[in-house]
Amino acid sequence: MAASTATLTPSFLSDRINAMQESQTIAMAKKARELMAKGIDVINLSFGEPDFETPQYIREAAKVAMDQGFTKYTPVPGYLDLRQAIADKLLRENQLAYKPENIVVSTGAKQALANAVMSLINAGDEVIVFAPYWVSYEEMVRLAEGTTVTLMGALENDYKVTAAELEAAITPRTKLIMYSSPCNPTGSVFSREELAAIAAVVARNPQIHVLADEIYEYINFVGEHVSLAQFAEIKDQVITVNGFSKGYAMTGWRVGYLAARPEIAAACEKMQSQITSGTCSVAQRAALAALQGGRTSADEMVAAYRRRRDLVLAQVQQIPGFKTPTPSGAFYIFPDVSAYFGRRTPAGETIGNAGDLALYLLNEAHVAAVDGAAFGAPNCIRFSTAAADEKLREAFVRIKASLEKLG
Ligand SMILES: Cc1ncc(COP(=O)(O)O)c(C=O)c1O
Repeated sequence: MAASTATLTPSFLSDRINAMQESQTIAMAKKARELMAKGIDVINLSFGEPDFETPQYIREAAKVAMDQGFTKYTPVPGYLDLRQAIADKLLRENQLAYKPENIVVSTGAKQALANAVMSLINAGDEVIVFAPYWVSYEEMVRLAEGTTVTLMGALENDYKVTAAELEAAITPRTKLIMYSSPCNPTGSVFSREELAAIAAVVARNPQIHVLADEIYEYINFVGEHVSLAQFAEIKDQVITVNGFSKGYAMTGWRVGYLAARPEIAAACEKMQSQITSGTCSVAQRAALAALQGGRTSADEMVAAYRRRRDLVLAQVQQIPGFKTPTPSGAFYIFPDVSAYFGRRTPAGETIGNAGDLALYLLNEAHVAAVDGAAFGAPNCIRFSTAAADEKLREAFVRIKASLEKLG
């Protein structure tokens, strides 16, 4: 599914960029656009983006900020009042005590993750990444010249890596562990007991840090969100990443943050000072308003995500050969579709892998999804459930009908 490498790796470009994987979703997105341009009604379930608008009170705050003159360069780690509000949120909702000096606001959680990886990883350092993982982790580690050690959770355990599996993967070169909970792409959520066991392993390895990506914190259907940094003995080893994109439907505003021990926060600030400077002034004022507004708008969106999760799950369970855990959070469903490998399309092509099946579903059902290989899980396909109920219903009716045509 990768685009032609000839056009992507000319020798005048750096080895660094030539070694970087092009997004595996490019061919799919291009094909979906081509079909749409022909007037075909494609249901796009490939996006990792809320379908809701940013709540009105947040947009109003941004308009006021512009008129108040928040138009200049911002402090590199973010406005002090925003960092204080983030510290207050971490204390109130996560029982984590941090000062503004521990917090760096970035251009999305993505930059917070990249800052931390670039600040911690030397060439050859090993980074244990829990799989299925979010697409960018691996490329960030590669950019920092680290080595990714992928640790795949078992489907029977909702794809969650266990503490014992983690302990077995640690070597003297292990420098960092990365995971998301709630997880993109699986929707799995680590329980307090599971994280306590992981924390015990981390405590036995004080040279290791952990990047805990909590961007889907609010989109949680099981109730309790546990931050790994809550385990006091490892708090200094944990870098907590969060942001506004998912919980507040603010993907385009580009505001995320991390909370970490002061040395790491200072390193991330230094990294950011040379790459982007502080993130957008107006977006930061909007983020401050978002936090001041509390969780009400997020809770309303989560109710819709939960309803859609249930709706999609009921349909997916009617599809023979789709095996999926019940997502406990986020807005994806990530079935194992390997039962279809080796089957033949009406056109006589063999479905060799999840990418082929995703392409077949695009062409036949006109539903766009993402090949699980992009997330380190080549037996799976990721469908976003952040779409209107009727679109979701229609998508899985079409998918089922298309799969029934396979020989
Ligand atoms: C697990 C995970 N982490 C981080 C991000 C990045 O979020 P942001 O939009 O804040 O950069 C995403 C976005 O898709 C994500 O799914």
